[in-house]
Amino acid sequence: DAAPPARVAVRAAHLVDVKDGTVRDNPLVIIEGERITEVRYDGQVPAGVNVIDLGSATLLPGLIDCHVHLTGDPTEVKGDYYEAMLKRSSFDSAILSPTYAKRTLDAGFTTVRNLGADDFVDVALRNAIDRGDIPGPRMLVSGPPLGATGGHADGTTGFSPWITFHDIDGVADGVDAIRHRVRENVKHGADVIKFMASAGVLSMEASVGAPQYSQEEMNAVVDEAHRWGKKVAAHAHGAEAIKMAIRAGVDSVEHSSMIDEEGLKLAKQHGTYLDFDVYNDDYILAEYAKKGFPASTVEKEKLVGRLQRENFQRAVKAGEKMAFGTDAGVYPHGWNAKQFAVMTKWGMTPMQAVQAATVNAADLLGMTGKVGQVAPGYYADLVAVSGDPMKDVAQLEHVGFVMKGGAVEKNEIKR
Ligand code: ARG
Repeated sequence: DAAPPARVAVRAAHLVDVKDGTVRDNPLVIIEGERITEVRYDGQVPAGVNVIDLGSATLLPGLIDCHVHLTGDPTEVKGDYYEAMLKRSSFDSAILSPTYAKRTLDAGFTTVRNLGADDFVDVALRNAIDRGDIPGPRMLVSGPPLGATGGHADGTTGFSPWITFHDIDGVADGVDAIRHRVRENVKHGADVIKFMASAGVLSMEASVGAPQYSQEEMNAVVDEAHRWGKKVAAHAHGAEAIKMAIRAGVDSVEHSSMIDEEGLKLAKQHGTYLDFDVYNDDYILAEYAKKGFPASTVEKEKLVGRLQRENFQRAVKAGEKMAFGTDAGVYPHGWNAKQFAVMTKWGMTPMQAVQAATVNAADLLGMTGKVGQVAPGYYADLVAVSGDPMKDVAQLEHVGFVMKGGAVEKNEIKR
């Protein structure tokens, strides 16, 4: 007979119970192999269990970021943005993305949803992590994001008509082409479908929020994706595009910047998750002009940045379903948790912000029962911080302990 899987336990002073919205004292999390088998609070350690004692630290479920791009990082742009764009291929992404995956995991994010990567580099990265070849968070990936010609997913918008890139991107116009593109993405390993419902900031179209697909096209994305059992995430800044995406039946709206009252109502009716990448604005305004991004991009950011935070606050007050999505990759990987402080500044309690990045995120990803809680049957994905994240949510920027699937990835907690 095979030996039973080794049992280990993690002990700390406190555990953030994200399901109940409470903090419990003196937790002992018992783990067999990859999974949690028991969480007890009576101080008793079962015989034959090795205890990892984190002293006065606070334990939380591994954090989840529902919107990242692990295939790029702004620190790659050393000089000029255009130069970097023209010299870069997906080989560069493939070489660098394991570094970004490791940074993300070390920051306490044990699960991420990667929403957009050319050439299916994200699929290769996810597979390498799943095989255990390289360290990294659990990943759900979209492959190339769908979008209209000349829109936010079209990499040569604003370039000379003579310039074409030979990568596999997600540009697709019209219902038939869209259905084909969704099928291609599923065929090549996408877990989720991402599309551009509106214009964007870091792309060369004049608008930042105008719809870029017709209602019929958005309906086709969702209908086709759902038929293949894949959820849909829509990039949308503008009020109209947000409502069109919600009506089409998307599972989450990303950015959500200019959502209006009607949009908030619709999201509630449809049970649509809203993700607001509310930290991004600080980094873009501080860094992107220096990197040679066109002035028009920085001007577009100024149109949405503050408004997005105000609308985030409205969404919190309205009791919308909200998950944590940062768009990391626009800002440096590993800085994901900086968004928590912005979320609490704009209306969430620390508990709500943590729930957005755990139990709610897991629900959006369809991973309830696997990740997002510290409970029996869940993967042993745990993080710990020395300070009290319910008093000061910025403590989450200093995660000292990371366990993924029962394996300790990092332990720098001082006892
Ligand atoms: N990827 C997004 C875009 O280019 C980033 C938007 C960032 N701005 C913001 N305020 N969240 O549209």
